[in-house]
Amino acid sequence: MTTPTIELKPSANPLSAAEREGILANPGFGRHFTDHMVTIKWTEGRGWHDGQLVPYAPISLDPATTVLHYAQEIFEGLKAYRQPDGSVATFRPEKNAERFQRSARRLAMPELPVETFIEACDALVKQDKAWVPAHGGEESLYLRPFMIATEVGLGVKPANEYLFLVIASPAGAYFPGGVKPVSIWVSEDRVRAVPGGMGDAKTGGNYAASLLAQAEAATKGCDQVCYLDAVEHTWVEELGGMNLYFVYGDKIVTPSLTGSILEGVTRDSLLAVARDLGYEAEEGRVSVDQWQRDSENGSLTEVFACGTAAVITPVGTVKRATAEWKQSGGEPGEVTLRLRQALLDIQRGTASDAHGWMHRL
Ligand code: COI
Repeated sequence: MTTPTIELKPSANPLSAAEREGILANPGFGRHFTDHMVTIKWTEGRGWHDGQLVPYAPISLDPATTVLHYAQEIFEGLKAYRQPDGSVATFRPEKNAERFQRSARRLAMPELPVETFIEACDALVKQDKAWVPAHGGEESLYLRPFMIATEVGLGVKPANEYLFLVIASPAGAYFPGGVKPVSIWVSEDRVRAVPGGMGDAKTGGNYAASLLAQAEAATKGCDQVCYLDAVEHTWVEELGGMNLYFVYGDKIVTPSLTGSILEGVTRDSLLAVARDLGYEAEEGRVSVDQWQRDSENGSLTEVFACGTAAVITPVGTVKRATAEWKQSGGEPGEVTLRLRQALLDIQRGTASDAHGWMHRL
């Protein structure tokens, strides 16, 4: 595989420091974007080429571009954190790069070398370092690498041209309430992904598929939808854009990777962080009936959602067609908050990075 270098063509008109600070004071999630983006092209027979860091700007696509019709698209999400000494570090970018390669294989797209993925993220963060929020708060800089098929034509086949981009967005809490517990609607009829499908690839189609059930969750007064497996409609899989963890006293359990669940980087990191803190941490099967029963008999003490965007968000209320119950009295649970703090301490550089997860720029 070829590894292009990234040519720097910075903006002559970046946003003023005052405007940037105004945005950083209340960034929300995914609403504002930094001054630059990285683009790298792939062409059949030539491989990866023309890596550039350029001013953030709209891209122009022919109306017959493949991605607009057949959704050959993949993406990633990772964050850059301001460290106590003012430097910046990203969290486990190689995990995202490797997943991006797996997603590419599933969608018959070319694999971007891991080092090029990391180099592209690094180039953008270095250029737009002033956009990384101050140390110590909930905020960070969310990076969104993605790839689209750019061949023009309506034939249904893997495209012969692709564009990889990285954009960045200062991010506060994904849920407006921050660590306030969220409510979950368990969808027992709609499914997110099927065995042999694309559930373990990070592709826009999976998120499109989740929107209707997510909208139904909202009509039930819930913040998020939870999907069950597509065959038995029994086993808990994941939320619309996050993984789930169940806390049984000193043991935490997350649904095993079945092929239809996204292998979350936060999910994976928490298995290790929990063990470091002395908890038992397991992957396993949890049915929706067990979830309800164990909550009602008190053995299931807490439930939380996790993801790069959501960090760790407690679950407060669960609703299904036949029942509704509170999780840890509707309050954030002790284990949830402890794990959240331990992970954030590593990411913000206030705890030792025993696993070598932080990538310093
Ligand atoms: C993430 O946590 O990075 C996600 O991809 C979830 C969502 C914002 C799509």
